[in-house]
Amino acid sequence: MPDRPTVAATREELAELLRETRRPRVLVPTMGALHAGHVALLEEGRRLAGEGGTLVTSIFVNPTQFGPEEDLDAYPRTLEADLAACATAGVDIVFHPAAEEIYPEDHSTAVHEISLSRGLCGASRPGHFDGVCTVVLKLFNLVAPDSAVFGKKDYQQLAVIRRMVTDLDVPVEIVGAETVRDADGLALSSRNSYLDARQRAEAPAIRKGLVATRELHKKGRPTARELAETALAILRQDAPEARVDYLEVVDRDTLAPIEPDSPVPDHALVATAVFLGRTRLIDNIELDR
Ligand code: PAJ
Repeated sequence: MPDRPTVAATREELAELLRETRRPRVLVPTMGALHAGHVALLEEGRRLAGEGGTLVTSIFVNPTQFGPEEDLDAYPRTLEADLAACATAGVDIVFHPAAEEIYPEDHSTAVHEISLSRGLCGASRPGHFDGVCTVVLKLFNLVAPDSAVFGKKDYQQLAVIRRMVTDLDVPVEIVGAETVRDADGLALSSRNSYLDARQRAEAPAIRKGLVATRELHKKGRPTARELAETALAILRQDAPEARVDYLEVVDRDTLAPIEPDSPVPDHALVATAVFLGRTRLIDNIELDR
C-alpha cells in the first residue's frame, strides 16, 4: 500500500500547483494621448507579465485630478491611435471607462495623502494628488493587478502612490520606469502638443538646467541654493519665456526640501515645474555621485 497523503501534504501540493499556474497581471494606468514614454511603460509591463500573464492598461482622463482652471477639456484625446499603440505593445486588455461610471453622481469617498503630496506639484495643484490616489486605488480594485508601472517623470506621483499602497495595505507592487525623452532632452509629455514653435525651442532648457545641477553635484559639495541657481540661470538664458512654478532640491524618498544653505546629500532629487505660455511642464533629475 502506498503511503496515505496527509491533509497538510495535499494542501501544500495544491498550493504549489496554484503557484505554478498563476500568471502575473500587470496594470499600466494612463490618461491616453499615448507617446513613446507610455509605450516604454507598456513594454515594461509586458516584460513583467511574461508571455502567459495579462497586461492591462487604462486610458481615462481623470476629472478629479484637474483643478477648475486646468486643461481637462483641452486635454488631448486620441483613442483610436492609442488603441493601435496598445495592440502593437501587446496589451491584452484596454480599460477606457466613461467618467460617469467611475464617478457616479453620489460618490462621496476619496483618498487623501497628507505628507508627500503637500509640496512641489501638490502646492500649486491643490487636490491633484487626492484625485490621482482615488482613481489609482479604484483602478487597483477594479483590475486587481500584481504589479503596476508608473513613470519617474511624475516622480512625486510615483512616491505618493508608493506611500498609499504601503499605508492602505494595497497588495500591488509598484514599479518605477525611467523617463523617455526627445533627442534634445525634453521629457515626452502629452502636454508637449500644446507648445508653439518658440516654446518648443525653449523647452529643452528645463532638462539642460537639471543636467547642470547633476554635474555640479558630481564635482563637489554644492548647497541646495547653488544647485537651484545654476538651473535657474540656464532657464533665464535659454528660455526667456519660461515662468518657473517651482525648482526645488528635495530628499528622494520623503520629498522634504533640503535647506538652501545645506550641502546636498547623495540621495537627493531636483524637481521642477515650468510654465511656457499656459503649458505647465514638469521634469526632475536624481542626483548620483
Ligand atoms: P499620464 O500623464 O497619461 O501618464 C501615465 C504614465 O506614464 C505615468 O506613470 C507617467 O509617469 C508615465 N509617463 C508620462 N510621460 C513619461 C515619459 N516621458 N517617460 C516615462 N514615463 C512617462 O500620470 C497620469 O497619466 C495619471 O496621473 C494617472 C496615473 C493615469 C492617474 O490618472
